[in-house]
Amino acid sequence: MTRTRTQVGIVGAGPAGLTLGHLLHLQGIDTVVLEDRSREYVEARVRAGVIEQGIVDLLTAAGAGERLRREGLVHHGIELQFAGERHRIPLSDLADGRTIVIYGQTEVVKDLIALRLESGRPLHFDVDDVSVHDLDTGRPLIRYRHEGRDAEIECDVIAGCDGFHGICRPSVPAGVLSEFSREYPFGWLGILAEVAPSNDELVYAHHERGFALLSLRSPELSRLYVQCRPDEDLAEWPDDRVWEELQLRLGLEGWTLAEGPIVEKGVTGMRSYVCEPMRYGRLFLAGDAAHIVPPTGAKGLNLALHDVQVLAESITHLVETGSTTGLDAYSDTCLRRVWRAEHFSWWMTQMLHRPEEQDAFDLKLQLSQLRYVTSSPAAATALAENYVGLTSL
Ligand code: FAD
Ligand code: PHB
Repeated sequence: MTRTRTQVGIVGAGPAGLTLGHLLHLQGIDTVVLEDRSREYVEARVRAGVIEQGIVDLLTAAGAGERLRREGLVHHGIELQFAGERHRIPLSDLADGRTIVIYGQTEVVKDLIALRLESGRPLHFDVDDVSVHDLDTGRPLIRYRHEGRDAEIECDVIAGCDGFHGICRPSVPAGVLSEFSREYPFGWLGILAEVAPSNDELVYAHHERGFALLSLRSPELSRLYVQCRPDEDLAEWPDDRVWEELQLRLGLEGWTLAEGPIVEKGVTGMRSYVCEPMRYGRLFLAGDAAHIVPPTGAKGLNLALHDVQVLAESITHLVETGSTTGLDAYSDTCLRRVWRAEHFSWWMTQMLHRPEEQDAFDLKLQLSQLRYVTSSPAAATALAENYVGLTSL
């Protein structure tokens, strides 16, 4: 058994864990990052693509935004499509000039891994049997196996950044956390295709066959989604069927959706979930480990990085002053933003998706909401400020 010590033990090398490790490194604070998948797997996992301006600023200030600034695509608006028409929401005009940047989560993760390796601080991939102990003491422990050996790290603080299916949240004793959740009868079938995006801005489409989204990753790569069942069998979706469905749902008179080779395809179920508080003793949960939003609001990655920004400041305060005031406020501070994003993501989801058996009254309400949000500056502003990320919360 190898025994080591660190100030902060970080479980999970997704965007939350890697960003936290980097922010703490900049403060001279020791961390060990443990990841149960391989580096190749983590770097290739296609997920989010929309980054709020506040998060771009955070990564830039931390020296992790160099390629993001160079290669990220700045967008000033999105489009909502319904009843055969597209309507633009001019995000920047409505939200004090703020923008979003299109830059794949895969690229954020690659940039952060490169910085971590450069720092020389430990980041272990392919670890097994990770477990956390003594969480209600001042010296919590992480145990794991790596390269055939058992290891134990004594920490001052443990950050549970291990995503929704990780081990940190389930390690909290029963009865401590309150859970709030909603399952949706929808999933998203997402593809990455080697074809130039057919529109300059994202298109969120409400259609009688179900929701569809046109997004992108670069001038050569399109990212597209169609609403499906949460347990949809990918085998029933050969490439031709995916394109056919996208053509039907995104199609408009005088506009064509260009097709190209599909290089990635996957199904994601949709859920909303929050646990409160985002802490137990010296274990702090951040990102998807503590909360999930349906992807319609493009908030998951952004929330994860907001959490670790707050956590890094709180841990730095502890190290510099010995005071736990920051850490004691961590959960409440994060949950204010989390619940705003939960509401926004739920609202976007219920406005745009079609249940298999839709009540005629509900459909009328959706269309009325879409008309309102695309015609009233007040309603459009509410969408815009949430989408680009609220500055004060
Ligand atoms: P994760 O990315 O899940 O990282 C957790 C890490 O912990 C993983 O690497 C995992 O392998 C590791 N791990 C798990 N268990 C263990 C263990 N026991 N020991 C060690 N390591 C472990 N968000 C947006 O903001 N904008 C979008 O446009 C957007 N689009 C999305 C589209 C899709 C299809 C999906 C699925 C998600 C989307 N999201 C989006 C959400 C976003 O991807 C997540 O919210 C984000 O990945 C959360 O980061 P995280 O670091 O908290 O968790
Ligand atoms: C994406 O590009 O993957 C994407 C964009 C917007 C969303 C969700 C995902 O709401």
